Amino acid sequence: MQTLSLSFQSQILIITINRPDKLNALNKQVIEELSAAIDDVYNNPEIKSAIITGSGEKAFVAGADISEFTALDASAGKALAQKGQENVFDKIENSPKPVIAAVNGFALGGGCELAMACHFRIASNNARFGQPEVNLGLIPGYGGTQRLTQLIGKGRAMELILTGNMIDANTALQYGLVNHVTTPEELIKKATSILDIINSKAPLAVAGSIKAVNAVFNEQVNGYQTEIDTFAELFDTKDAKEGAAAFMEKRKPVFKGI
Ligand code: COA
Repeated sequence: MQTLSLSFQSQILIITINRPDKLNALNKQVIEELSAAIDDVYNNPEIKSAIITGSGEKAFVAGADISEFTALDASAGKALAQKGQENVFDKIENSPKPVIAAVNGFALGGGCELAMACHFRIASNNARFGQPEVNLGLIPGYGGTQRLTQLIGKGRAMELILTGNMIDANTALQYGLVNHVTTPEELIKKATSILDIINSKAPLAVAGSIKAVNAVFNEQVNGYQTEIDTFAELFDTKDAKEGAAAFMEKRKPVFKGI
């Protein structure tokens, strides 16, 4: 990996986008490497969850790499958005293992969209969020019009997308765009402490929870039916038997992900 640095600690993969001199802007290579890193989250049984963050003190990700936009026409623009959404943003959202964003500075354009594709977000108090594409004569292309509206509501999303204005971490907290605000020093510690709790739960129940909550926003499926089916399937897992047995025996469950 040339644009990402990966580290692994207590079952958590920390994916750091590592182009600090360009404020971690998402060029083609970052998108390809992020796609590969997320594949690893899906497929590597050692990894139970992941954190995405940015390197340096200034930016999480300051957007798609604008220098790559000059050569695009409509068909190349469509391919960029389509492939990016499928290979990175939707893949993160549908990951059966939690992927959370630790937003350590500017999260603009594709950076805000990357954070929003994650299952939830934690921000340091210097974080700034925005969708400034309108300043470039564009609109968000990595799911921003949809996920920002889902997360903060239509009126606030419209204002942010139409003005291109940024909001600070506390406003993002008030809007429900982030779950927690920390100091920059505490950011990764806070993210790992939450993931440590999730990683102690039954992995198939975690995956099922993600699938059912995501179904709220998927018009192709009935969310209530997804919940019923997933709830039912989990009764056939060893971990559900273990969970109930451990409760009855007043001991801690030992989950195996089966
Ligand atoms: N794409 C490509 N390069 C970017 C970038 C992006 N989205 N965002 C920042 N950079 C580069 C700058 O060009 C600059 O490179 P240089 O040193 O080679 O000139 C470097 O990162 C540092 O950015 P700079 O603008 O000098 O920092 P700043 O502190 O003055 O401003 C921002 C920070 C985030 C306000 C500003 O960089 C910005 O507006 N970036 C673009 C945000 C955007 O529109 N994103 C949506 C893209 S769809």
